[in-house]
Amino acid sequence: SFTPRVFSGIQPSGNLHLGNYLGALKRFADWQERGTETIYCMVDLHAITVWQDPADLRRATRELCAGFIASGIDPEKSILINQSQVPEHAQLAWVFNCVARMGWMGRMTQWKDKTAGKNAEAASLGLFAYPSLMAADILVYHATHVPVGEDQKQHLELTRDIATKFNHDYGVDFFPLTEPVIEGAATRVMSLRDGSKKMSKSDPSDASRINLTDDADTIAKKIRKAKTDPEPLPSEAKGLEDRPEARNLVNIFAALNNQTVDQVLADFGGRPFSEFKPALADLAVAQLSPVSTEMSRLMDNQDEIDRILTRGAERAREITAPILKKTYEIVGM
Ligand code: ADP
Ligand code: NA
Repeated sequence: SFTPRVFSGIQPSGNLHLGNYLGALKRFADWQERGTETIYCMVDLHAITVWQDPADLRRATRELCAGFIASGIDPEKSILINQSQVPEHAQLAWVFNCVARMGWMGRMTQWKDKTAGKNAEAASLGLFAYPSLMAADILVYHATHVPVGEDQKQHLELTRDIATKFNHDYGVDFFPLTEPVIEGAATRVMSLRDGSKKMSKSDPSDASRINLTDDADTIAKKIRKAKTDPEPLPSEAKGLEDRPEARNLVNIFAALNNQTVDQVLADFGGRPFSEFKPALADLAVAQLSPVSTEMSRLMDNQDEIDRILTRGAERAREITAPILKKTYEIVGM
């Protein structure tokens, strides 16, 4: 009964990387081209759940906007916004803070990971409540589908729990049960120096991370230096099971080339990494250098970015204002 509508977001916390590109941005552009209504968001309110220097946050938000557009998000076809410019996100989050339970938040693995070995009492209240704001980001649009990487699966389950409890408590069928869409060969791109760790913005010590602002030589060098094992590539996906580094590189190739892992291995099975890595480097450079070039052009045109985000927020509020108004009515306000 809900019209298909896609929403997804990325934090402006700097260092946009290959995992964000393959797990998120490239797939956002695919959804846009399929003709579904698409809304993409820079979630700056999420970024401040941990300390952000104001100047860094301003720069990262602009850089992320440039990253969206350079990856193929067309602000005419999609609604492209910065979260803090659409106040209904935070307003609905407050209502959801009163629907969600403390215990639900405490069980989130991302919360546990981020506070592991630290004094959780000293974490911000915002970091704890983050998944409730994320539910509001999605449900303030009645979004039905959220393309994300695997790391966000649990937060999407929580979004459904919040929608279910709200609908049940108030005896309505108002919020949809949003589906995560976790698909493609690169739903979890791993670090190029450690196949057991996710490639992440927030690991400052990972010099192997391929950033979307890297130039062609840097990309090629990072791929040449990526950790591998001495065996040649297997001829089918099963042969990658106990080889996390090899599997990661093949997944990256498949995702960049819009192929399945088996198609990649049909071409490269039996061949050594000394042949595979240069092919992967060429592919990555061909696809990522235009992204980095367009990003730096946009970064030099701040006015263009500001205009796009102002217009995006106006269009977004045509959807979010009526949904918030109706929510308040349901709640008795
Ligand atoms: P990060 O985890 O790097 O801080 P975000 O949390 O802002 O990035 O995530 C933005 C989007 O990128 C989400 O859809 C997330 O699932 C996806 N993503 C992040 N890291 C990876 C990765 N290593 N592989 C695939 N997708 C990823
Ligand atoms: Na993440």
